[in-house]
Amino acid sequence: MVNKVCSVGIIGTGSYLPETIVTNEDLEKIIDTNDEWIVTRTGISERRKAPPEMATSDLGAIAAQRAIESANLRPEDIDLIIVATITPDMLFPSTACIIQEKIGATKAAAFDLSAACTGFIYGLSIAAQFIATGMYKYVLVIGAEVLSRILNPKDRSTLILFGDGAGAAVLGPVEEGYGFLSFDLGAEGSGGDLLYIKAGGSRFPASKETVEKGEHYIKMVGNEVFKFAVRIMGETSLKALEKAGLTQDDVNYLIPHQANIRIVDAAVKRLKLATEKVYVNLDKYGNMSGASVPVALDEAVRKGRINKGDNVILVGFGAGLTWGSCVIRWS
Ligand code: UT7
Repeated sequence: MVNKVCSVGIIGTGSYLPETIVTNEDLEKIIDTNDEWIVTRTGISERRKAPPEMATSDLGAIAAQRAIESANLRPEDIDLIIVATITPDMLFPSTACIIQEKIGATKAAAFDLSAACTGFIYGLSIAAQFIATGMYKYVLVIGAEVLSRILNPKDRSTLILFGDGAGAAVLGPVEEGYGFLSFDLGAEGSGGDLLYIKAGGSRFPASKETVEKGEHYIKMVGNEVFKFAVRIMGETSLKALEKAGLTQDDVNYLIPHQANIRIVDAAVKRLKLATEKVYVNLDKYGNMSGASVPVALDEAVRKGRINKGDNVILVGFGAGLTWGSCVIRWS
């Protein structure tokens, strides 16, 4: 059971992107938009789309297997699986349980968590506590989404933004002085009406009417979410740095939620970071909600952008409204 507090870090990462690419030009053919508007207002050029036979657990399971492999572990070594998603395979059972079965992580407990685009960072914070107290040794955190299934094909403000994908990380004990140095998490429930899906839950169960009104699709007040994001990304990153006893000058690398290049630029400016210290892939994948941060992290790690001893910030925001950041000394 609970033993002692130990240092916890990320010991393996993985990701999976479906093969089908949807370009801005493809969207021009189905909705009133254009490549120039999308690129200048968001920074996105293309995004991925899962084939009809693939659901969130299929993408998540592949990312998870790659993360377990990169941690040099076997699926049976995993003690707990946490899946951050707003597009679960179904309302229940959890996508985490479905993935547990798919990858053969027979000894793992499993649950989903709902914090939208901040979900992966919330998940890391939960995983880290379990390991630090000695209750579990290896926890798998997955961010996976098939957002293409919940986009209104007639809503140009959301159709152009979101994409499908999955990323995962295995957390475990690391050398003292390395791993997670701090977390800063928050929520502002008063902003819940800025980004949501109305129908399909207990307040507005799915019906012919809800489907006719398109209430099973994402609804977003984009410019209000934008203002919130610009404020919170810098604020929460600075708080996490302070909790870690560090300053902006100590940051070696930033992995921000990939929502909009103008939001990322604002955070980079607030943190006074050089652009080469920031990972951006939203031009290729768009906003993948809970999958954005883990996919970016996995790519940055595999490209050798992050080295032992680097102070890395992960930061995100999303529906809820929620936000979260953490500082990791890479091990
Ligand atoms: O992970 C968290 C999830 N959400 C976000 O991060 C979203 C944050 N918000 C944003 O990224 C931006 O607000 C958007 C990219 C969604 C929109 O950009 P904006 O600069 O805030 O535009 P806007 O909503 O204020 O709209 C400006 C104009 C409007 O036209 P009028 O009313 O000025 O004539 C829109 O109808 O741009 C129009 N517009 C478009 N035009 C061409 C909106 N979407 C499109 C489009 N193509 N796809």
